[in-house]
Amino acid sequence: MEAARIISLFLPLCFLKVADTTAINPCCYYPCQNNGVCVNVGMEDYECDCTRTGYYGVNCSSPFFWSRVRKFLKPSSRFMHHALTHYKWLWYIINNFSFVSDTLMRLVLTVRANIIPSPPTYNSDSTYLSWEGYSNISYLTRLLPPVPKDCPTPTGTRGYKTLPDAKELANEFLLRRKFIPDPQGTNLMFAFFAQHFTHQFFRTDLKRGPGFTKALGHGVDLTHIYGDSLERQHHLRLFKDGKLKYQVLDGGVFPPSVKDAPIKMKYPSTLPEGKRLAIGHDTFGLVPGLMMYATIWLREHNRVCDILKEEHPTWSDEQLFQTTRLILTGETIKIVIEDYVQHLSGYHFKMSFNPELLFTEHFQYSNRIAVEFDHLYHWHPLMPESFIVKDQEFSYKDFLFNTEILLNFGVEALVESFSKQHAGQIGGGRNIHHSLLPVAIALIEHGRLLRLQPFNEYRKKFGLSPYKSFQELTGETEVAAKLEKLYGHIDALEFYPALILELPHKNSIFGESMVEMGAPFSLKGLLGNPICSPDYWKPSTFGGKTGFDIVNTATFKKLICLNVKKCPYVSFHVPYDVDNDGESKERKTSTEL
Ligand code: HEM
Ligand SMILES: *[C@@H]1O[C@H](CO)[C@@H](O)[C@H](O)[C@H]1NC(C)=O
Ligand SMILES: *[C@@H]1O[C@H](CO)[C@@H](O)[C@H](O)[C@H]1NC(C)=O
Ligand SMILES: *[C@@H]1O[C@H](CO)[C@@H](O)[C@H](O)[C@H]1NC(C)=O
Repeated sequence: MEAARIISLFLPLCFLKVADTTAINPCCYYPCQNNGVCVNVGMEDYECDCTRTGYYGVNCSSPFFWSRVRKFLKPSSRFMHHALTHYKWLWYIINNFSFVSDTLMRLVLTVRANIIPSPPTYNSDSTYLSWEGYSNISYLTRLLPPVPKDCPTPTGTRGYKTLPDAKELANEFLLRRKFIPDPQGTNLMFAFFAQHFTHQFFRTDLKRGPGFTKALGHGVDLTHIYGDSLERQHHLRLFKDGKLKYQVLDGGVFPPSVKDAPIKMKYPSTLPEGKRLAIGHDTFGLVPGLMMYATIWLREHNRVCDILKEEHPTWSDEQLFQTTRLILTGETIKIVIEDYVQHLSGYHFKMSFNPELLFTEHFQYSNRIAVEFDHLYHWHPLMPESFIVKDQEFSYKDFLFNTEILLNFGVEALVESFSKQHAGQIGGGRNIHHSLLPVAIALIEHGRLLRLQPFNEYRKKFGLSPYKSFQELTGETEVAAKLEKLYGHIDALEFYPALILELPHKNSIFGESMVEMGAPFSLKGLLGNPICSPDYWKPSTFGGKTGFDIVNTATFKKLICLNVKKCPYVSFHVPYDVDNDGESKERKTSTEL
């Protein structure tokens, strides 16, 4: 009797305890450190798989001897960034000694690329490894699997049950009040290059969902020039001397109209057929800066065809076309590393594109575009208040969908104007033009649908220490306090808002995390291209020494100037004598070391 009474007394308690613990999937706590993999076991237990992490223990948090040494010797990313962006004279010497600079470049490539799993692992529906997850390339891959569906909060266990309203977040923290120019002097020529280059592999298939892509090449495949199907490509080709179709207007070469190249392009319905230019990417008609680059690459293609044809008069149209496409792929990668990434990094160390650096390393020549890479590349703060071409100012309404601008002003005038106009700073917040704010709102909502892990988990994944507070993230107190109120805990902060709101490096376009997370995806994508592999990277692939030389000597400036009549000011940087159009602004930047 007594026993029964005691049992009945304790029963509700036991029940409570059981209900309490079984309710939470232990993996929601992200217990496994240092890249350990969390697997739930039984009803309420978990195991961390620490294989090849260099760590052991329940949570993979105890280092083996060599991991301890490596951890001790490894310079912090903050230190490396400081070293690379200071001591100009030292780099001037290092850059001159190819033995030292090659070793450094090899280190940059391997350290960065090693963070990216290759072959890829998860996707938005595969929270564990599976053949379906690996083989279905319609999915964007994921560096970290989605937050388990049964977690108590949307980001795991921290923060509130509901995330702050995306619209309110964007209005409060992302919407531009006053244009903030990028302190690195980035111009619109850079901004449109970024958009043009990345849209060949960032083409989210929203009809299927934010975890899918239409860009099945998963990298630098030049589908934005040549189209994403053989049929589209054939419509764009002249089938003579390897060339692409073109039209001559006012003495300048431009893409053909859809009358001559009948492919699907997105244009406002009011635009007559003759004015609809046809190029590889179907939406590039919407921004004159994109159509400008499309025109430049089309001219480059036909220019290279002429050079190849001269050396190989017996070659078929097909061989001339295919070889030229590989040359342009090489030129693209060369320009992206040596001009584009070089500018973006602000490094005094001179980066070089040399695939041979990796021939002595273990490196997989393949790539899969990740959701996280696509999200972090939403660099809409680059876009200015209005667009200035020659002496004319265009509002967003007048600039977008305006196909006349390119044809009326010509490539030279656009290059000159875009090179002189400041782009906005990407990091630091409150710098997205109101017309583009809906894109940021949609992005935050997609991040939630996809159940992206919280920002601090990504910090760890990229070898950075998680932020301990909002103040540490933003480097100030006011925005930090507002964020803390909305999110409740720094470990609940989301991926994209954190990347944009992180304190920028001193005098830089964005902060530590954008650099440390962007660079690995970027370099893996560039060097993972098949043309960089040992069986491709040789002169014959590019039609011989002449073609190989075109690749190896490509520069951004040559790309433009070999394809216009009069070479304008060309750079990813505004001229040094152009004023910042925002007055000297009071912005906090990360403290010097
Ligand atoms: C005035 C110029 C621009 C306009 C009007 C614009 C507009 C848009 C729109 C409407 C989307 C699709 C959003 C959605 O469907 O959810 C988008 C996506 C995107 N934008 Fe922009 N954008 C501009 C400039 C830029 C620039 C300069 C970059 C720099 C890299 C950029 C990077 C991206 C990226 C990475 C995506 C995702 C693409 C995808 O996955 O499909 N955009 N943009
Ligand atoms: C492992 O992680 C869990 C959850 O974060 C924590 O409760 C536990 O104390 C950790 N165990 C050890 C041995 O570090
Ligand atoms: C060092 O670099 C400069 C410019 O980059 C070059 O003019 C000079 O010849 C180089 N010196 C040596 C010793 O390589
Ligand atoms: C990839 O997965 C999606 C979603 O499950 C599916 O609709 C599609 O058919 C799959 N593609 C292939 C080639 O299996």
